[in-house]
Amino acid sequence: MNNQEEKYQNLLDNLSKKIKVAYRLFVFVVLLGIVLIFFPNSVVELLKPKPTIVQVESKTPIKQTQVLAEDEVKNGIHVASGLKFDEGYELVMGTCGACHSLKLVTQNRADRKGWLEMIRWMQETQKLWDLGENEDIILTYLAKNYAPENKGRRENLTNIDWYELEN
Ligand code: HEC
Repeated sequence: MNNQEEKYQNLLDNLSKKIKVAYRLFVFVVLLGIVLIFFPNSVVELLKPKPTIVQVESKTPIKQTQVLAEDEVKNGIHVASGLKFDEGYELVMGTCGACHSLKLVTQNRADRKGWLEMIRWMQETQKLWDLGENEDIILTYLAKNYAPENKGRRENLTNIDWYELEN
């Protein structure tokens, strides 16, 4: 092999090495492209830092009463909303709990007319929407379960022996 030939051979070797490297690079890029196109989230997931789980020890153990089932009813009260468990309570919960606490409802007492007036007042001044046919169900529920409390109070006394106060 003369000098000229050796140079030429080296050049060829070099070139073929470079082509191999370029080819591998090309294949890699194509594969990466395919992965990115078909599983765009997988790469993002890989790059995301893994959340570290920190165990916090609670000093006060979670009481059973704090883990309330959504629809638990105790003593006739739907626990999560505080509403009396009766026909229509879910409607009242969804409608009347939308703007304010349901305590505003449960702490008020009125007859049907009174509740209707409150609803009308909210419709006129507080942007309460037209309740449509739900109004009747809601009013029936409220008038029945949150009626003016007369029964709880003692009856007027009768048959009392009044006596004169002496100074
Ligand atoms: C669009 C919002 C909205 C919805 C829905 C709504 N209210 Fe109200 N309601 C209000 C606002 C605002 C007030 C005034 C709150 C305050 O004074 O802090 C109010 C006040 C009240 C009060 C207290 C009234 C008073 O005299 O103090 C009661 C009772 C009441 N709402 C019952 C209901 C009932 C029953 C429903 C379901 C039919 C209902 N609300 C749905 C907005 C709403």
